[in-house]
Amino acid sequence: MKYGFFDDIKREYVIETPFTPLPWINYLGSNEFFGLISNTGGGYCFYRDAKLRRLTRYRYNNVMRDTGGRMYYINDGTSVWSPAYLPAKTEPDSYKCRHGLGYTIFESAKNGIESELTCFVPVSDNCEINRLVLKNNSGDRKKVSLVSAVEFCLWNAADDGTNFQRNYNIGEVEVEDRVIYHKTEYRERRNHYAFYSVNRSTTGFDTDLDTFLGKFSDYSLPQTVASGKSANSTAHGWSPIGSFRLEYDLSPGEEIETVFILGYIELPKSEKWDGEAAGGIINKRPAKMLIDRYSNAESITNELKKLSENWNDLLGKFVAETGDSKLDRMVNIWNQYQCMITFNMSRSASYYESGQGRGMGFRDSCQDLLGFVHIVPERARERILDIAAIQFENGGAWHQYQPLTKRGNADAGMGFNDDPLWLIGCTHAYISETGDYSILDELVPFENKEGSEKPLFEHLRASFNYTLNNLGPHNLPLIGRADWNDCLNLNCFSEEPGESFQTCANIESQAESVFIAGMFVLYGTKYAELCIKRGEADEAVKAKEAVAQMSGAVLKHGWDGDWFIRAYDSNGDKVGSKECNDGKIFIEPQGMCIMAGIGIEGGEAKRALAAAKQHLTFEYGTCLVAPAYKEYHLNLGEISSYPPGYKENGSVFCHNNPWLSIAEVMVGNADEAFEIYRRICPAYIEDISDIHRTEPYVYSQTIAGKEAPTSGEAKNSWLTGTAAWTYVNISQYLLGVRPELDGLRVNPCLPESYDDITVKRMFRGAIYNITFKRSKEKGLWADGIKIDTGIVPEAPENSIVNVLCKM
Ligand code: GLC
Ligand code: GLC
Repeated sequence: MKYGFFDDIKREYVIETPFTPLPWINYLGSNEFFGLISNTGGGYCFYRDAKLRRLTRYRYNNVMRDTGGRMYYINDGTSVWSPAYLPAKTEPDSYKCRHGLGYTIFESAKNGIESELTCFVPVSDNCEINRLVLKNNSGDRKKVSLVSAVEFCLWNAADDGTNFQRNYNIGEVEVEDRVIYHKTEYRERRNHYAFYSVNRSTTGFDTDLDTFLGKFSDYSLPQTVASGKSANSTAHGWSPIGSFRLEYDLSPGEEIETVFILGYIELPKSEKWDGEAAGGIINKRPAKMLIDRYSNAESITNELKKLSENWNDLLGKFVAETGDSKLDRMVNIWNQYQCMITFNMSRSASYYESGQGRGMGFRDSCQDLLGFVHIVPERARERILDIAAIQFENGGAWHQYQPLTKRGNADAGMGFNDDPLWLIGCTHAYISETGDYSILDELVPFENKEGSEKPLFEHLRASFNYTLNNLGPHNLPLIGRADWNDCLNLNCFSEEPGESFQTCANIESQAESVFIAGMFVLYGTKYAELCIKRGEADEAVKAKEAVAQMSGAVLKHGWDGDWFIRAYDSNGDKVGSKECNDGKIFIEPQGMCIMAGIGIEGGEAKRALAAAKQHLTFEYGTCLVAPAYKEYHLNLGEISSYPPGYKENGSVFCHNNPWLSIAEVMVGNADEAFEIYRRICPAYIEDISDIHRTEPYVYSQTIAGKEAPTSGEAKNSWLTGTAAWTYVNISQYLLGVRPELDGLRVNPCLPESYDDITVKRMFRGAIYNITFKRSKEKGLWADGIKIDTGIVPEAPENSIVNVLCKM
């Protein structure tokens, strides 16, 4: 069952009912100011850091209820309704929610009043704009009142939700000329405030939540809305809000546009106040200037145009026409859009990530970059340098950093032994995309310590050596606290409820990861390529030898006869082997080792892929492990804490499905490679939205596995490494247009039914127009010249290269 449809021309998903299985959300903002918005208007806003600079409040543990957000009440005398359905919960006569790129529009109507609410964040201002157009279609004159509301968060979202003994005392606002200023803590150490404005004359306002709602009322019908009179309340502590009341008298056919702005202003300390600080009057000039910029209909239309042009630029780097509209819309629109959002948000703010906990993950951010680097390479470059700065001199790394401070986060710890290798992966991807080797010379500190700066290349060397310096008894890499699978905790042995499986005291152990071994082969090879480009031939030879030894160790100690085992636990026992009762086969080492090329020559790769298909794959995707663990295993940790079929314990953990698909490409199996892609691809499973439940335009972290009672049900949408890896898979392996150090490799691997495909790829300043055709004669031509290396060399900037690939 579907709840909407794709409008590919407008690049929107159009939701036709508020009653989606879960809130289906979108993201507003692309630089510093962000908003999450659901198809019922819910969500929250923040400036740069979802924990430390939260503008509006979100009520947690409340996904289904979806309270809060942008609230509007239209009262036409007969009913009170909301353009987004919530909070009033009166069913409109018609409803549509259009989630587009960086904006969301609600089109609804009730009792002859038509409303169009457009929500977006301008490209270069720190605010969210809500434009509400009301039109009287009834044929009669209509008196309509409109009440709006946002609930402010007292900045630090974690403190806001816990420290009530303080917080109920500190809320402060100012109200002046249709603007409500939220200035909590501005009197002391904060140099920023928020404002909420409206551009038409009001007949009332409220800034105190409890007065606005009234005793025992809730947002569905606040007392001030029911009574038809705002209280003009001023918040002193408790919960500050911003609410305006406006009254319209609309003649038949008349249309009226009202603009609400929620903005963020930061000031230098010396300019904080208007007059003396003791007077407590804040400097409102920058807010007024911002409001002025959007004071007329034209400025908003222009800004929306700018937003759309911005997305044209961003998405214009890779455009495919495959003859399959589902594939096209994922590749050209939604997959890239999700890559942008995950790059910006990491795992911080969604409906399932609270925005309070997880900062920027080392491994997560390195991988997110893989799907983003072609979009804005400059930002990818900056990110690589930020990430490298939380590395230690021995090559290890903090597992996370906070985006505002860019400092390693001690709570999340260190010792996740896959982390360092991802840095090689993303740096190599950046250079392949841009040809910019200068990044390797950038001086980057270790652990952000002044004086410890070394060229980035030394960080890569440290990463490479970190694995070699941490080998276990089978010459396989020690796993540390965990590798990519955060929940395979072979050194933890936790018996304490609630304790973190990742950071609790480690036992000293020799547990080893076949997955990291695969990674070492994959990224060690890329490290060797970079060494050669830097003229470090000896180091390249050394690296290749180490890689060859590691491949050997995998085939010797990591091969189980039909597939790659996952790990050795602290006792030296196999994990992910046919010898195990549960957890016989894991997806990760199959994907990673084969992506690295291990076992392709000897046939192990094909056998492993056949085994993965047989044991792990079902109609909704390929599960992480099978059989799922039925009971808690002290020596395995968090993975066995999940009920069978969920999360790491045997769900379809979407992030690693593209690895397996790439592995199928590596052995030339186009059909299964594409099937793996298709099974979890949102646009292809839109028809089962009632089963899948999350948004049909983006990936989710997991889909309940074959052993789960709710198999097929997805959870944790939006912020997942699936976006980047899927994009790498579809663009670089299935469509086969792959940036490499020496140019653009073109080598598609698609099922026979795909023919006559074009891809427009911007690459290092030139445009490559690539045509794929089926033919008996295979080969590659660039501007008519036959290419035997498979790689189209870099062309001069601004040139156009016509590439023909006969497949
Ligand atoms: C989560 C983490 C990621 C990890 C994955 C598998 O998505 O953010 O770092 O690799 O889970 O455990
Ligand atoms: C939990 C999750 C896992 C995630 C980790 C991050 O263990 O199950 O997916 O990577 O938290 O700390």
